[in-house]
Amino acid sequence: MNEAGLYVFMLSVHGLLRAERLELGRDADTGGQVTYVVELARALARNPAVGRVDLMTRLIEDPAVGEEYRMPEEPLGPCARIVRLAFGPRRYLRKELLWNHLDQLVDRCLLYLKSQGRLPDVIHSHYADAGYVGQHLSLLLGIPLLHTGHSLGRVKRERLLAAGRKPGPLDRQFSFARRIEAEEATLEHASLVVASTQQEARVQYGLYESFRPRRLAVIPPGTDTARFTPPVERAPQPRVAAMIDRFLYEPGKAPVLAICRPEERKNLKRLVQAFGESSELRARANLVVFAGSRDDVRVIEDDAQRRVLSELLFDIDRYDLWGYAAIPKRHAPEDLAEIYRYAVQRGGVFANPALTEPFGLTLLEAAATGLPVVATHDGGPRDIIANCRNGLLVDPMDTGAIARTLCAALSDRPQWRRWSRNGIAGIRRHYTWDAHVAKYLRALQRVVHAERKRVRRAQASTLRGEQTPMPFVSHMLVCDIDGTLLGDRGGLEGLLEWLRRNVRRVAFAVATGRSVESAARVLREHGVPAADIWITAVGSEIHYGRDLRPDPGWAHHIRHLWRRDALAQVMQRVPGLRLQGREHQRAFKLSFRADPGRMPPVAEIRALLRARDLHANLVYSQQEFLDLLPVRASKGTAVRHLAYRWGLPLASFLVAGDSGNDTEMLMGDTLGVVVGNHSAELDALRDVEQVYFADRPAALGVLEGIRRYRFADIARVSA
Ligand code: GLC
Ligand code: MG
Repeated sequence: MNEAGLYVFMLSVHGLLRAERLELGRDADTGGQVTYVVELARALARNPAVGRVDLMTRLIEDPAVGEEYRMPEEPLGPCARIVRLAFGPRRYLRKELLWNHLDQLVDRCLLYLKSQGRLPDVIHSHYADAGYVGQHLSLLLGIPLLHTGHSLGRVKRERLLAAGRKPGPLDRQFSFARRIEAEEATLEHASLVVASTQQEARVQYGLYESFRPRRLAVIPPGTDTARFTPPVERAPQPRVAAMIDRFLYEPGKAPVLAICRPEERKNLKRLVQAFGESSELRARANLVVFAGSRDDVRVIEDDAQRRVLSELLFDIDRYDLWGYAAIPKRHAPEDLAEIYRYAVQRGGVFANPALTEPFGLTLLEAAATGLPVVATHDGGPRDIIANCRNGLLVDPMDTGAIARTLCAALSDRPQWRRWSRNGIAGIRRHYTWDAHVAKYLRALQRVVHAERKRVRRAQASTLRGEQTPMPFVSHMLVCDIDGTLLGDRGGLEGLLEWLRRNVRRVAFAVATGRSVESAARVLREHGVPAADIWITAVGSEIHYGRDLRPDPGWAHHIRHLWRRDALAQVMQRVPGLRLQGREHQRAFKLSFRADPGRMPPVAEIRALLRARDLHANLVYSQQEFLDLLPVRASKGTAVRHLAYRWGLPLASFLVAGDSGNDTEMLMGDTLGVVVGNHSAELDALRDVEQVYFADRPAALGVLEGIRRYRFADIARVSA
């Protein structure tokens, strides 16, 4: 592995990466592009600028999908590999059922990276579910995210609604709400979105509010030219020929080959109809259809696919195409290229009359083997035929035109040969994976560069270089800001010096009642480098790094039972409280200034809220501030979240504070330090185990605590 080259971390979580797409009858929309991800990984690794590619996916232990999906690691060449991580149940799950398990995959990826000792330079997610995981990792680690949606929820939902499906059951079956929400969040966050065609960009991504055309790169996928080669022999491979020929009266006639999943959109219906209605077409050609694999059509799980396949068989019968049409039940993945070659050797054409075709990978495969194409005039095929000049476009709604165009394509032999040659050459010029990767890396360099500049502007200095120390640190220093970190200049210098010395082992976190913006500002004003972790708004928010990236799981976790507006209303009537200014109010923090003389005891307020079935964590600080937070939020729970998130025991956190809102994080297994200048509320902690009361004020007190716990030595030993 080339350690200096880019490290690309690819994600495609569904797991059936290597499944030949025709085996994926049950997973229609990952189907078309499964090979895409593996081929991209390989091609990236071939590029000299790339040092390492890890393609993360789900480890599946299920006899139904085969042994290879349970291999934890599988090389894809010298610098690339598939890494399979187990999460959720062991067995195969269709992708709509994976959503609840994705947070676990985020954790598994963090653990994996920790074990590698190196962070990727870029994360590239494929499909909506990986977008979710990728976005989380990108935020947690400060690594730019690239995303390829392949197929988008809103588009699929609209298509199914238009086909007459009921919204309720449809949304349940496909988890559309979660999918679309995740897609919006991913598009909002991703530095670059990769689409295959302009149409895909416009028509599909255009339906999303968060989509920014500026962040889009249109890069057509490549095709595997090592696999989809033109035939060398004159005769087809006997096994493949036998599989098809047994259906046909005159196997020697030119085949019209269609390969696609059994979906309405693929419009196989009109292709069969064209054969049924045109005797000229029947005289010239046989119809050869590979539409997924099936055992018993009656028990195909997916309703839509079962309907399409049944109708296909009924129509073949209705037009009595027996002997004119081959529709094999299944084929082995390694036969696919040979099936195209069979059609070339018999002088056939490839037909894709889809109603809509965002890209059309099969057209590239056909072209690469030298098989001319007749394809829908929608979307991707336009680009492909314009680039390759290897066939004709047709109106997919017009069966007469489909029949005529197929006849025309089959009748002019010199033209057929020209198209065949053009296809092979065109693919080499426009659609190889190496060409794809060259464009991809240029786009990537642009975003990485822009990102770095933006981050540098945001916060002047850091304790370390660009990269986050997470997930490699063994310890964390968590410091409240006002009265703890700040307050004694000399102590602060000493503490920063200590941090710099231990920068590889210890992460620097602040925990404050301030907003994250205000915390960043006050640190900058005092010449303190950006924190690695920002626990702000009394623990109701967590951010990372100098670019203040939100922890994506935290808001979601603390949202539980939080009804901000209702709380605000009830609190209006409590005497002795005044709302703090707008800048102190946050989504998960409702803050008041208290007049201790007039305010009722906190326990009374708590009872009042409980009587209204409202839930909040009430935090009283410095005899002056009262904060209402979600029940799950405090500086203490935030610290516990970090311990869980980054796999560190609480005893590796040294936590320092001076006032009431620090209480929860000081208690428990953390190493607590109360600085000398603390406010009265904290005296209650005097007899609590593992809370050290320093004599000296602010940062001097923190240093005193570090010495007292021998924190430096602990950190050194376990590093
Ligand atoms: C900070 C916040 C304020 C909060 C107080 C106590 O001063 O700005 O809103 O009430 O801390 O947590
Ligand atoms: Mg304080």
